[in-house]
Amino acid sequence: MTVRAEPPLVLSVGGSVLMTGEGDADYLRALAELVRRIGTERTLVVTTGGGRVAREYIRLARTLGLTEIELDEIGIDVTRLHARLLAGLVGPPCPAHPPTNLAEAVRDAHRVSPVVLGGTEPGHTTDGVAALLAVRLRASCLVNATRVRGVYESDPARDPGARRIDRMEWGPFRRMVREAVGAGTAGQEFLFDALGAESLARARIPLRVVHGRDLANLERALRGEPFDGTRIDPEPR
Ligand code: UTP
Repeated sequence: MTVRAEPPLVLSVGGSVLMTGEGDADYLRALAELVRRIGTERTLVVTTGGGRVAREYIRLARTLGLTEIELDEIGIDVTRLHARLLAGLVGPPCPAHPPTNLAEAVRDAHRVSPVVLGGTEPGHTTDGVAALLAVRLRASCLVNATRVRGVYESDPARDPGARRIDRMEWGPFRRMVREAVGAGTAGQEFLFDALGAESLARARIPLRVVHGRDLANLERALRGEPFDGTRIDPEPR
């Protein structure tokens, strides 16, 4: 087991950040370089989402009448495809075969860094996987790299005047997540995974939400430096 001075960090990268159809190869190379660099300094675990590709498969499979669990499993396979791609780009010592469950991921993270993985089981998202891992690893923070610049009062994709919230506490954020969750079906995009938000809040682990394509800013968030985005912190005791 590798003993590192700093507590582990967990990063969740949305699939819609990894694959936009624009400059993806350059972005992935630069992201892999950042993950490798931070991962040599301290234990870093990265989860990769499924994005548009997962949603397209899920939409097709739903039309064909597959069950919700089967749709989740298709989504998981796409997130694992992205994990394999990023893990291969990061290179050794990052395991080239991403772990497929939490126990394996924890075991790997105690041995090597960085570790990259996709989804684990039906019923949550890769943000949820990242949150459960952050709790298991007693991470100092979870950084959610998404396709918006933080948490907004309303959906910035629909409301261009939406106001960003720079700081909030877990209580109000959990309420926002619960309201956004709605039906809870495969491939649905939420603000953040509901189970993940509950787990992080209970463990008093801070969450940082940043735009994943701005790598300089993402690095600042990972390093605990001032960054552009939203900070969600535990309520004072
Ligand atoms: P994502 O984590 O990509 O969810 O998983 P998302 O909300 O679509 O996030 P973005 O767009 O990548 O940021 C895609 C789908 O895979 C299934 C779910 O159906 C999810 O919606 N999944 C993923 C699971 O069932 N379990 C997992 O552990 C991960």
